[in-house]
Amino acid sequence: MAIHPPVTRIWWREPVAKMEIFWIAIAFAWGLVMFSTMVAWHIWGEQNLANEAYRVNPEAYVARVEAMADKYKVREEGDSGVPVVHPPPGSDVYLLARLWQWWPVLELEKGKSYRLHLSSADWQHGFSLVPTNINIQVHPGYEMVVTMRPSESGTFGIICNEFCGIGHHTMAGKIHVVDR
Ligand code: CUA
Repeated sequence: MAIHPPVTRIWWREPVAKMEIFWIAIAFAWGLVMFSTMVAWHIWGEQNLANEAYRVNPEAYVARVEAMADKYKVREEGDSGVPVVHPPPGSDVYLLARLWQWWPVLELEKGKSYRLHLSSADWQHGFSLVPTNINIQVHPGYEMVVTMRPSESGTFGIICNEFCGIGHHTMAGKIHVVDR
């Protein structure tokens, strides 16, 4: 009964059975193997993006996106007149997530490299580039910077992959990649 003290006071100083040590060793070694696969998939499997992350003030970020859009806007698209922005190759390009859109539409050149900045003006969103296997969490207050070089031309869809309220399913955007 638990109200009585244990019969053997020093119950933890039992010798551990050989078999148990053996299994602990296997579990530990397997843990190391699993851990090293994370590193290996990052280096050779190209599974995770090598991104940079910085703290940013959401309003300051919105201002930077708007400044880029004003400067490099080439046309408008769709019923809502979303600006299509064609920034110079090699430059920093900004994409803003907010309830419930990806803004603006970026037009990039194939084979050129860009530093793509991603952040949110309000809630947490998920940047998912269709049909590639790229998926990035987008938080207000943090900006992710991904260096990328589009290798295929065409129009790529962006969908929000993080539930962000009633308009979540409508939160879709676009990146055009053109051949120059
Ligand atoms: Cu933004 Cu879901």
